[in-house]
Amino acid sequence: MTFVDAIKSTMSLGILVGGVLPSWTHFMFPYTKRGIKETESYMRELISYRLKNLHENRHDLLSLLVSSNAEQIAEKSLTEQELIADVFIFLLAGHETSATTLNWMLYELCLQPEIQEKMYEEVTRVLGDEENPNMEKYYELTYMRNAVQETLRKHPPISFIPKLNKVKTKIGDYVLPANTEVYLSSYQAQHDERYWKNPQVYMPERFDPSNENYMKQPSGAWIPFSIGQRKCIGNRFSEIETAMIMARLVKKFRFELPKDDPKMKAKAWLSGHPPTEEILTLRPSGMLVELLARK
Ligand code: HEM
Repeated sequence: MTFVDAIKSTMSLGILVGGVLPSWTHFMFPYTKRGIKETESYMRELISYRLKNLHENRHDLLSLLVSSNAEQIAEKSLTEQELIADVFIFLLAGHETSATTLNWMLYELCLQPEIQEKMYEEVTRVLGDEENPNMEKYYELTYMRNAVQETLRKHPPISFIPKLNKVKTKIGDYVLPANTEVYLSSYQAQHDERYWKNPQVYMPERFDPSNENYMKQPSGAWIPFSIGQRKCIGNRFSEIETAMIMARLVKKFRFELPKDDPKMKAKAWLSGHPPTEEILTLRPSGMLVELLARK
């Protein structure tokens, strides 16, 4: 099984099988079971490679985790199973979500070249000859930061967030008994016309302090990272990561949907969104983007 197939089967039926269904039912899902097992062995390989090659100094999250764990005294260090769980979270919670955000952002830029040009103007002005934006530059890239937030508003990669109501609670007119499963819909909240004018329109300016409606929404109206104590720990990291990657791309390329892919274009224009698929995240399905080098 390839890495992608293993992850796909883990993230689709695997969550249901491994997390919800009792273990005696697992024999009915041999392919999914194999997917989970293979995903785990890919993670194991990844960790053992990093452990053997600590000197490589790759400066990424996984290397830092593995090397700092190797320096701990035995009683304080994470077990291999705990490391695997962390790698799994980084890979899926962190990587897939940010990649989907980039995917949607590219798609919106293809549809609205004028937004692309505005971004290009900002990136070239702020970065000048520099290739890699640092944190100081990040704060100067205001339009880019607004566009990341707008992408997460219009296309929250995790469109609903499962919760368990531990004690009996009243929300408005509704009484929720204890142990009720509740799903927060970030998609719904972020397309609610009471808080977002023309919610189907992609408009980075919404997040600009000069906008008359800026920050007038209640706190639950923008929840791509959820809300409350269990809110995503990668929130800031991924907003920065997405803006930094996009800044580098925008500086070098213009983006277009391929002209010979009229089906995708027509569908996008007619329905306001392209065909989508949902595995862990809700993302455009089969989207191709042409990168045209800027002079
Ligand atoms: C655009 C990018 C991302 C989005 C949209 C996103 C979204 C979310 C959402 C909706 C949750 C559920 C929170 C809840 O249950 O209330 C979550 C949890 C989590 N995310 Fe993210 N995430 C992103 C990036 C990241 C990154 C980059 C990392 C780590 C490097 C990360 C690590 C986690 C972890 C560890 C949790 C579980 C937190 C807990 O249960 O306490 N996420 N994320």
